Amino acid sequence: MNLNNILEPLHIKGVTIPNRIVFPAFQTNYATSGGFVTDRLLRMYEKLAQGGSGLIIIGAIAVSDNGSPNTNVLKVTSDKHIEGLEKLFSVIRENGSVPAAQLLHAGRQTVSAMTGHPVVAPSAIPCPVMKEMPLELDDAGIKKIQDDFADGAQRVKKAGAGLIELHGAFGYLIGSFLSPFSNKRTDKYGVDKTLFFTETIGKVRRKIGNLPISCRISADEYVEDGLTLDDTKKLAPRLVEAGADVISVAAGTYASMNHMAPTKEMGEGVHVHLAKAIRDVVDVPVICAGNVRSLQYANKIIREGKTDLAGIARPQLADPFFVRKSLDNQPFAECTSCNTCMYFLRGEPSVSCPQNPEL
Ligand SMILES: Cc1cc2nc3c(=O)[nH]c(=O)nc-3n(C[C@H](O)[C@H](O)[C@H](O)COP(=O)(O)O)c2cc1C
Repeated sequence: MNLNNILEPLHIKGVTIPNRIVFPAFQTNYATSGGFVTDRLLRMYEKLAQGGSGLIIIGAIAVSDNGSPNTNVLKVTSDKHIEGLEKLFSVIRENGSVPAAQLLHAGRQTVSAMTGHPVVAPSAIPCPVMKEMPLELDDAGIKKIQDDFADGAQRVKKAGAGLIELHGAFGYLIGSFLSPFSNKRTDKYGVDKTLFFTETIGKVRRKIGNLPISCRISADEYVEDGLTLDDTKKLAPRLVEAGADVISVAAGTYASMNHMAPTKEMGEGVHVHLAKAIRDVVDVPVICAGNVRSLQYANKIIREGKTDLAGIARPQLADPFFVRKSLDNQPFAECTSCNTCMYFLRGEPSVSCPQNPEL
């Protein structure tokens, strides 16, 4: 089996990613209620790094106290969070992968009973799933959250992140500004729905210097009035102009959750056509995730120029040694896309996987 394409290192702004397989951000709810790193997270990521992915994206990590999507999500809201993140990034680096940090503000996709703060959004329109009426952000509120992203980026850089990803996908705050589904503003942030994101990238860039920035987007939201590929083909180049070094292509929002973690029936590489279309309009590497289920398939989509990096999440959750075992032609515990890991849909406290009792 020829896997040359996935084994080729990728150089981005002085950072060398040793191969093209990514463990994308995966919110497990394993942090403390204060958003600190736990031994459980250290164990999980140590194994994943030993497993052989070139890039491991930690997250999501909330940048604001009103921006956490669940009870036990990592946070980077204070300098106190740096020490634990430093340990987490070190464990990944020591095992040969590049550690990255995904920064998030949940926007309207959370509830005040959990965060202890009012829910905020571009417009006073509730998320159809979370249902709580958000407060419409004013200019001061917008600036505060953009500054939280910049401060969070500076902290994760200090902790040793090799790349920073800004979570603009899935209808969280940045994604909700991008989308006509959730942004009905008539001010400059509504007339130009990409502005919140491009300004945030600029503020982050000023705090982190040359560190690479990835922007994750839902290239199609698959909701009525939501972002379509036509929209995202126009906005992706603007993210690059603003400073993005990588575009990570995903799809869906809470209102189209089957696209966030696609079922098996949706088919292998369900978002590859989106990644290819975005790759055609930007001059930076693209990550594609969503039902990439084998290294052979990952190699094929890279060889065919459809993506530059392949995100493989649930298969590596089922077996953290998925990459290494696949390369060595050894059997591994297979993800069946049963979505037991979607703990929040099942009323469970955190991620589990029937294939991986060690989680
Ligand atoms: C339980 C769970 C948590 C996730 N958390 C995040 C997250 O915090 N940030 C993010 O960008 N994507 C998140 N994702 C999406 C994954 O990164 C990935 O795009 C998705 O699982 C599809 O890839 P796969 O088919 O390889 O699993 C999550 C998915 C699941 C199932």
